Amino acid sequence: MNRKNSLPEIENSGKINRRDFFGMAWKGLGILAALELLGMISAYIFSAKNKQSHVTKLIQDAGSVDSFAPGSVSAFMGGRFYLARLQNGGFIALSLRCTHLGCSISWEESKKRFICPCHSSAFDISGEVLNPPAARALSYYPIMIENGMVKVDVGTLKERNSFRKDQLVFAQ
Ligand code: FES
Repeated sequence: MNRKNSLPEIENSGKINRRDFFGMAWKGLGILAALELLGMISAYIFSAKNKQSHVTKLIQDAGSVDSFAPGSVSAFMGGRFYLARLQNGGFIALSLRCTHLGCSISWEESKKRFICPCHSSAFDISGEVLNPPAARALSYYPIMIENGMVKVDVGTLKERNSFRKDQLVFAQ
């Protein structure tokens, strides 16, 4: 019976000639390169999905615009910020970290100011320094107002030297 060898590269003697050897080596390298490329594409897609869900989690719903009276301050300790609505209706989400050495500030309603318990720095409702040793206004988080709801991006902390009106966000 004249059965052909299933591996045509292998000669009757069982030896592989040089041309066939390099052909098989190139095929092997091609398969390895394809597998590596597939792995890289999978890793990219997987990390992109993770980033998307990470970003989604960093947007915190604070509540409806109407639930915050002008001149009020609401604490969101889970989100690490105070949501202040100034008398002109503008919103600002203030970090609760004092800009001196990072202690947690608290809102004193009777004095209408934030006080730091560590070294007595004080800040007004917009986060502006009223009393040193803090030298910079409180940092703040970007706000979006969508369909009458206030949303805070707690993943993006913005530092500043002082308060400016363009840091406020108004409902349309
Ligand atoms: S840490 Fe707030 S005044 Fe020093």
